[in-house]
Amino acid sequence: MNTSRDNFGSRFGVLVALTGSAVGLGNLWRFPYLMGENGGAAFIIIYLIFVFVLCLPIMYSEFVLGRRSQTNVFGAFKVLAPGSKWSIVGLFGVLASISILAFYCVVGGWSIEYLVKALCFDFTRQGTVNYETMFSDFVSSPVKPVVYHVIFLVMTAAICLGGVKKGIEKFAKIMMPLLFVMVIIIAIRSLTLEGASAGISYMFKPDFSKINSGTLLAALGQAFFSLSLGCGTIMTYGSYVSKDENIMKCSVITSFSDTLFAIIAGCAIMPAVFAFGISPSEGPGLVFITLPRIFAQLPLGGIIAILFFLTLLLAAVTSSISLLEVVVTYLLEEFKIKRKTAVFLTFFLILILGTLCSLSQGVLSDIKLFGMTFFDFFDYVSSNILMPVGGLLIVLFVGWRLGKANLFDELTNSGKLKVPQWLLEITFFIIRFLAPVTIAVIMIF
Ligand code: TRP
Repeated sequence: MNTSRDNFGSRFGVLVALTGSAVGLGNLWRFPYLMGENGGAAFIIIYLIFVFVLCLPIMYSEFVLGRRSQTNVFGAFKVLAPGSKWSIVGLFGVLASISILAFYCVVGGWSIEYLVKALCFDFTRQGTVNYETMFSDFVSSPVKPVVYHVIFLVMTAAICLGGVKKGIEKFAKIMMPLLFVMVIIIAIRSLTLEGASAGISYMFKPDFSKINSGTLLAALGQAFFSLSLGCGTIMTYGSYVSKDENIMKCSVITSFSDTLFAIIAGCAIMPAVFAFGISPSEGPGLVFITLPRIFAQLPLGGIIAILFFLTLLLAAVTSSISLLEVVVTYLLEEFKIKRKTAVFLTFFLILILGTLCSLSQGVLSDIKLFGMTFFDFFDYVSSNILMPVGGLLIVLFVGWRLGKANLFDELTNSGKLKVPQWLLEITFFIIRFLAPVTIAVIMIF
């Protein structure tokens, strides 16, 4: 075992770091609006099936590759399949992480601006504010969102600079419990509003007539994104986890916490949306346009707005550090450079790409890559190409190249953990057949 590598210090540290990666904009921004657009409860049920049947074994796969190889996404394949072309899969992970970061940091920057607005009680001040133009004027302006994106990126890089144990783990240990407490407080406020029950039944009474192939696609894409799969994030964190840790248990707890957080976030948002007579299918503007409108009229709305945007910001940071760490660990180990240098290089790369993404909402909106703005391009390429292809190749590698014996060996810590044989067999079946076929079918659509 490589003793010079930084490592997580405790099981709690591993769990909060993994959950920190999983819980992010995906839970607070994407999950509620996708649920709103795809029929509420029916979407949740399909999402749960995807998470626990399909994505959990994919998470095991990434975890196994990282921990078994004890190295970065690219190096892992060189260690586990020497002399083969499989390490290209690692490059997919690095590219996917870069392209997610490019737009993720921009949205992270938006949450700083909205936190500042909330702290100035801008939403609850008297007078008529048009939240739609407030949002579109802000994101399309040339300076402010770029500056906020840089601040967000500086926060992310500063934590990664501290390393795995003293940076990432330490930050996540404080933030994750705080995030859960804050989102629960917001949910209680929302659930106790008059008229909240319509939102609750929307989330928990399924209407299966709403399900179509689009719902399936949205649910799988969301499950992948929310669990941080397909980019080597779990692989990278897994490579910093001790050989005594129980991979299956850690993955189950992470998936469960992430899903729980998404559902609590739903309970924080949907009841309020219904109580104020707003349509649940507001789309991506839900968090930045609809919610401020609600905060303006909500008793204690000013405080809740601060809590909400603080939660959004911190959840986004604990995720962006996991993405940055994929690139940093890769540079660090493959090019034998210092952590500091690796963090700075990644920082500048994302700074440039993120600035382009941010400006593409305004002054650069006419520049198109394959008919898309920079922002949409990075979102599209990562969500529709790099992540699913990365995920597909990872399960194919584990199912067909790494093989059953190695997989079981790693999942059971060489037989030290007692895992029922049938569970291992089902897991292997899903990794070898079900997961690749499902991802391929969904990608073709
Ligand atoms: N899971 C995070 C969220 O829900 C985002 C994220 C972090 C991510 N790392 C990732 C998404 C890796 C895909 C792949 O916001």
